[in-house]
This record gives sequence, C-alpha cells and structure tokens, in this order.
Amino acid sequence: MADAAHAADPQTDAPQRRAEAVLARMTLEEKAGQLHTVDASGPDPAGRLGPEIASGRIGAVINQVDPQTLRGLQRIAVEESRLGVPLLVSRDVIHGFNTIFPLPIGQACSWNPDLVRDCARAAAGEAAASGVRWTFAPMVDIARDARWGRIAESLGEDPLLASVLGAAMVEGFQGDDLAAPGTLAACVKHFAGYGASEGGRDYDATNIPDNELRNTYLPPFKAALNAGAASIMTSFGDIDGVPATGNGYLLGDILRGEWDFDGVVISDWDSIGQLITHGLSEDMAAAAREAAEAGVDMDMMSSAFIEHLPEMVRAGAVDESRLDAMALRVLTLKAALGLFDDPYGKTHEGAAPTREAARDLARRAARESLVLLKNDAGALPLDFGAIDRLALVGPMADQPYEQMGTWVFDGDETRSVTPLKALQDALGEDRVAFAPALETTRSRDRSGFKAAVEAAGMSDAVLVCLGEEAILSGEAHCRADITLPGAQLELLDALRETGKPVVAIIMAGRPLTLAPVLERVDALIYAWHAGNMAGPALVDVVSGAFNPAAKLPVSFPRSVGQIPIHYNRKNTGRPPVAEQIMHIDDIEVGASQTSFGMSAFHLDDGYTPQFPFGFGLSYTRFDYSDLTLSADEMNRGDTLTASVTVTNAGDREGTEIVQLYIRDPAASLTRPVRELKGFQHIMLKAGERRTVRFDLTERDLAFSGRDRRVRAEAGAFDVWAGGDSTAALHARFVLRD
Ligand code: GLC
Repeated sequence: MADAAHAADPQTDAPQRRAEAVLARMTLEEKAGQLHTVDASGPDPAGRLGPEIASGRIGAVINQVDPQTLRGLQRIAVEESRLGVPLLVSRDVIHGFNTIFPLPIGQACSWNPDLVRDCARAAAGEAAASGVRWTFAPMVDIARDARWGRIAESLGEDPLLASVLGAAMVEGFQGDDLAAPGTLAACVKHFAGYGASEGGRDYDATNIPDNELRNTYLPPFKAALNAGAASIMTSFGDIDGVPATGNGYLLGDILRGEWDFDGVVISDWDSIGQLITHGLSEDMAAAAREAAEAGVDMDMMSSAFIEHLPEMVRAGAVDESRLDAMALRVLTLKAALGLFDDPYGKTHEGAAPTREAARDLARRAARESLVLLKNDAGALPLDFGAIDRLALVGPMADQPYEQMGTWVFDGDETRSVTPLKALQDALGEDRVAFAPALETTRSRDRSGFKAAVEAAGMSDAVLVCLGEEAILSGEAHCRADITLPGAQLELLDALRETGKPVVAIIMAGRPLTLAPVLERVDALIYAWHAGNMAGPALVDVVSGAFNPAAKLPVSFPRSVGQIPIHYNRKNTGRPPVAEQIMHIDDIEVGASQTSFGMSAFHLDDGYTPQFPFGFGLSYTRFDYSDLTLSADEMNRGDTLTASVTVTNAGDREGTEIVQLYIRDPAASLTRPVRELKGFQHIMLKAGERRTVRFDLTERDLAFSGRDRRVRAEAGAFDVWAGGDSTAALHARFVLRD
C-alpha cells in the first residue's frame, strides 16, 4: 500500500490559506460552531435553525435537499452571520441521489471500478445540482456477516475488492477538483471495523485484535484516503473497549500519525454523546473532550462540541490550538469546495446528468450486478421469440420502491421500471401472466397462490421474484434468521407442482440461505436491490440479450450458523479435508469421540459456503489451464508475472472476471488460506482462448506484521488463478531476501 496520504499541493495550500485568514478572525464560539453539524430536515428549518446559523454556531447541515430551503439557510449564514462563513450541506448519497443504482453490494458484484466510479459521478452531479456538497460515502466496512443489515451498503468481505471499489467511488464523487461542477466531498466510513459487530447486530461491540484490524479492516480506508477522500466518519462501534469516536489509537496514532491524514473527521450520528452510553465518558463535557483529543473534528448531532469546547478552552482543559486545528480543517474543506466563492452553488446548477444518461447507466450497472447462481440444463436464457406467454409471480415483481433498496432518501421511484413493466414492454402485456401471490415477502396468506398457479399453468415458464423488502436490511435492520421470510418457499412448492420451468430472482440487501430455494428452482439470479432499472436489466439477462458475468463479493452461508464464513479464513491447526467431513445424519450412536474428522467444521453444514466469494455463472463456460510463473524465485524489487490461459468453452460470447489469489504458507503471522491479489475482466468469443497476465510485486505480498510494519516476508508463496476463490490451478514461487 502506498503511504502518502495528503502531500501538500497548490490546490490544497490555497484553500488552507483562505481558511487560516477566516480562522484568525473567529471567536471561540465561532470556531466551535464550525464543528457543529445539525439535522435540517423537518418543518421550517430556517425558523428553527436560523438564529443559531446567524450567530455562527452551526457549521454544517444534514438531511435537507430542497434547493430553495438550502438557499435560505445559506443566505442566513452568508449574509447574517458576523463572518459570513457558508454552511456545508451534507447527505447520505450512497448508491444514487434521485436516480438509484444497485446497492453497493450489488455494484461490488460487477468488480468494475470504472462502472462504480461512473455511478458515483452521476450521483454527485444530481446531488450537487440540488445543493448537496458532501456525501457520507463510500462505506468500506469489510462485511462477513449476512445477519448485519448494513452488509447491503458494503463492498463485501475482501480488502482488495473493497479498496479498489471504494477508491473508485471517491474518485467518482470528488473528480479532480472539489470546486468543479458536480462534485461532492467524499466521507469514507465507518472508521473502523463496524462490520465486525458481534452477532451481526448493528452498533454492537467490535472486538478486533490489532493484526486483524490492520490486515483486514483498515486497508480499504487507506485506499479511499489515498484516492483523496476529503473526510472520514467514525464508527459507532466499541473497539476492544474504546469506542471508535473516542479512540485516540485509531484516530490519532493511525489516522493522523501513521497515515498523515489531514482531512476532516466527523463523528457518526450522536456517537460523541454515545460515549456516555458506551460507558467511556461520564458526561457530555467529558465526551466532547475525549472525542476532540482522540481526533474528531466535527460533531454530528450531539451538540457536545458547541456546548462544551469553548468553556473547556477558557478553563484550560482543552488547548485552543486543538480547537483551531479542528476548525481549520473544516474551513479548508469549505474553501476547497469553493463555498466561499460560490455559497449558493451556481457552479453546480446544471451538473446533473440527463435523465436518459442516468437511466442508461442505471440499467448498465444493474445488469452487471446480477449474479447467476444456478442454471440447470440451460433453463436460461429464455427464448423470448418462441415463448407464447411468461408467468411473472412473486411479491417483489412489481415494487418500484422496494427494488431501490436501503439508503434511498432522495430516490425517485417514478424512475423505477419493475420486472413486470419491463417484461410487458418486452413481450407485450398479453404475453405476461402476472400474479404477486403474496402481498409482501413476509406474508403468510396463501390466498394469492391459486392465481399464481393458474398464471404458471397457462405459461411456458415462470419467473418468480422473491426476497426481502428494502426495510429488512440497512441500518439497524439485522436478522438472526436469514432464510426467505413469509410463505415464499411454499409459493415455490406450489409453482414446482405445475411442472413448468421455474426461474427465481432474489431481491435482497443481504445474502440469504438458499439451499431450500435451489432445490425448488431450475435457475436462480441474485439481483440484490438493483435500483431503478432492475426490471430492464433482469429482462436483458433472462432473455439472453446480456450474458451475466457478475461475481459474488461475499460468501453465501449454507445456514446462519456458519457465520462468520468468508473465503480469506485462517487455516487453523486442524483444517478440514473433504473426506473427513461427516454429516450429522451419518454418525452412529456410540461412535467413539475421535472416530471421525477432528477438524474445523460443523457436523450439519460442513465447512464450505453455499456459494464462495468470487462465484458467478455465465451462459457460457470458461476453462482455465496453464498457470505459469515468470520465475520460481523473485527478489525484493522484482516483478513476477503469473499467466493463465482462459478458454471460452461454450457456444456464445461472454465476459469472465479472472481472479488471482495467493497464500503465504509460513510467516510471522498466520495468513489467510487465500487472498485476492488481482482480477481482470476479459471478453471471449465462443471457442476463443486468451492468456491473462498478472504482475505481482512484493507490495502485493506484504502484510502488517507483529511489529506493525507493512512488508513482505521471504519464503514460499502459493498462487491460484480461476473464476472464483476455490480456483484449483496452482503454482508456487519463493521470495528471496
Ligand atoms: C447514520 C449512519 C451513517 C450516516 C449518518 C448520517 O446513523 O450510521 O452511515 O452517514 O447516520 O445519516
């Protein structure tokens, strides 16, 4: 990983000089006011917040996107406050603003940083045109727990993939110049380790040892900051007894010290006040001091800084120099965004992409997010030319809002095209027999099954859209049971009895346990919540107009009891081997305690996931052969090239995401059994073969060791290449000192 976080440059220096000039004229209250972020949603924000804005006690607002209302608030700041410092307007622009793209976990299935960057860019244009200039995204929390509702907004379980895609989001939001039209300042979150919350319960403790923190959870944040992220948000989580928002090791030693980050650190919503609830601070004044001294600059919604920092500076409990540094970072960000020169955002008025361009991008993104998980006997693609009628069934088949997913405060569901609408557009209404069958995904009222079975009976095949509504994932919406809710499995049983081919499309914000679904369907597409254009994208895939290429960014557990389950696991001292695995049903009563596999597995579910990280099918088949290395040994500073031949062994063109994994089998810290170190998209015609090359340097082999230094250790390394994390083609080389 590169080290430079924010080397000084002319663009950065000019805003800082501008900010220093403003800071020099500020009172203690005005400095603390810059640190105060308040919620501007709800009725009459100007009436409620105007006096505080006019007195310089508010630096930023969140959750207000009406342009006229924002201009009104900004006018008070600029024309009525003593120094005329403009407000920073923030919003969670997570996977789109008015046009909604697939959930981040869906976008991550594309493994396509260019696409992810384009989506962030389009979202930034729409949001900036509305007056928003700061988004609380990308979220790069490594997520290994499907019970956790926020896996929906994550980029998955792998540090490299989350790093590449998180950095691409930053580049999309920020462009090259924060003052340019259509830009948003990014805020990478939630620093750090939020996805490790115990039990998959949001906000719960995250006890992460330092080696795991540095080798798994921190790299995507470093990548986002290296991409220029202007700010970072602290996590709600308690990390080994010290909540992130008060954690000087995390925010001071690592972020400010080792990484030399000089951007803005904002707390999550009221997470400064929650330092009291956690049991770290005895009162709000103590919480304010702990957060400020840990490294937090802005207070979202606790009012701790504005209410307590001025008096603590006067009392000598907090140095004014610290308050100055905090306020300077906020003022510098405002200057870099061009707010002092253009507080009313005239620069951004025409920044939104056209509706057509945004729609087409949303369709492209949705197509690349759809993962084909099962396709028995070529059930897909369907031949739309030969079909007389298609049944479309299920509670998610015509839900313009639900298909957008969580975190869509400003999503415009009128821009949604549902699977029903898209199919009717493609086949004509008379060739689509629609029956929702269930009112919601949780419904147990089967009275709608009859119409669904009839629709199936009169059709050539059945598409059934199942899953979870948006509200069943997202913040604070975690599940202890990750099966399909309601009577959805029973619906599949009823459809199965018709004897028609059944294609399931699952729309959800998390991996669900799919074994019961898989045994009831001929094909399965995992669609996540694919945004406004979920419908047309599904039709593109189901009809074969688009050959799916998406790959899973998370492992799918067989049961919730397998969690946490992820591909980059540790080998343990007793790794399971297939022949050792017994099944609970095969165990003889009275068997001796050591009579079968003494290794790391579950008697009922073994040790492999339902679907591994990196898995995804195509309408064609890709074969891998001839993995070769440019050398058997490499010295430090060398580049070693791994080459693998990929053949399209099917009868139609397709794209494959070729993946490269390594393992360091002996090191000063035990290393994961596999680590993704490279991936490439290749398009191959039927029968075509191509050699794909990956360059490895010692930086790719490096990890944070016992001494916290990031370096590669001499010794052997295993290499695999293939179409998912179980790739079998293997080679080995040695790194020499
Ligand atoms: C929420 C989320 C955070 C979001 C913030 C503002 O609680 O944890 O991701 O950016 O508050 O909405």
